[in-house]
Amino acid sequence: MSDILKSYPVVALKQVSPVYFRLAFAAPGLARVVKPGQFIHIKVSEGFEPFFRRPFSVYRAHDGIVEIFFEPVGKGSRLLTSKKRGDTLDVLGPLGKPFTPPAAGIKQIVFIGGGIGAAPFMLFSDRIKVHKAEKLLLYGGRSKAHTFSMTDFKKNGVRVLTATDDGSVGVKGRVSELFKEIRLAPATMIYTCGPRPMMAAVQAFAKVHDLRGEASCEEVMACGLGACLGCSIPTVHGYRTVCHDGPVFGLNELVF
Ligand SMILES: Cc1cc2nc3c(=O)[nH]c(=O)nc-3n(C[C@H](O)[C@H](O)[C@H](O)COP(=O)(O)OP(=O)(O)OC[C@H]3O[C@@H](n4cnc5c(N)ncnc54)[C@H](O)[C@@H]3O)c2cc1C
Ligand code: FES
Repeated sequence: MSDILKSYPVVALKQVSPVYFRLAFAAPGLARVVKPGQFIHIKVSEGFEPFFRRPFSVYRAHDGIVEIFFEPVGKGSRLLTSKKRGDTLDVLGPLGKPFTPPAAGIKQIVFIGGGIGAAPFMLFSDRIKVHKAEKLLLYGGRSKAHTFSMTDFKKNGVRVLTATDDGSVGVKGRVSELFKEIRLAPATMIYTCGPRPMMAAVQAFAKVHDLRGEASCEEVMACGLGACLGCSIPTVHGYRTVCHDGPVFGLNELVF
């Protein structure tokens, strides 16, 4: 385990919207090996409170720097907002099963992200920049505060469509409102991450149009290593752990 459990120096913490933060740390080895969809398990405090690590997707990994993109929702993630340059970050990872890279014959790649669920798609779009397929991100957030700059996605050749619950940015309504905005190509691959009701809607959409896809699941975690079974979810094959068997599953494997 020692090669995946390390302390890294924090390089920068930046608030990028009223609710979202980016935290960067220097981790050349991790940046080299991490794959889109994998996560890292962070010990957020020096002491025992909170006791368990907190899982975060890798948002970017380049030039020896790894970044996470996060929303402080509770004690653990709020502690991360006090990190300063030079502090150390105790990280276990990379963990979990990554997204399957799109096959060469895929003509359209549709990322569907709800809120913070869009985070792993930044690294994914970085890594498949040269893939010739049309790339789209359907992004759903609660309000303007829950949207963020899409410039980097656009630089990676990803067309972004946005929906917000209150209509403050993009189309008013859930991200599923955006399904009718896309013209599906003959070989489309869907990748989704976000709240379970959103992913259930994506699964239903994919079924109707006979599309292949993968979904990254978020569950409260303890060990992060497949030992405690605390993050088990129902799948068509029975219960599976999000941390070890996932977080990425075939879209049609999930039972909602
Ligand atoms: C594989 C994976 C990748 C993730 N990637 C990101 C990411 O890139 N950015 C990010 O901001 N967050 C991400 N999360 C969610 C993040 O781990 C939680 O927000 C964090 O653990 C909350 O810890 P806390 O101590 O701040 O909140 P807590 O005090 O533990 O909880 C606060 C509230 O959030 C709820 N909650 C906690 N964890 C989750 C969860 N996983 N799903 C749904 N509700 C939850 C709790 O039930 C509670 O209501 C990811 C989770 C997983 C499993
Ligand atoms: S968190 Fe322990 S098995 Fe997943």
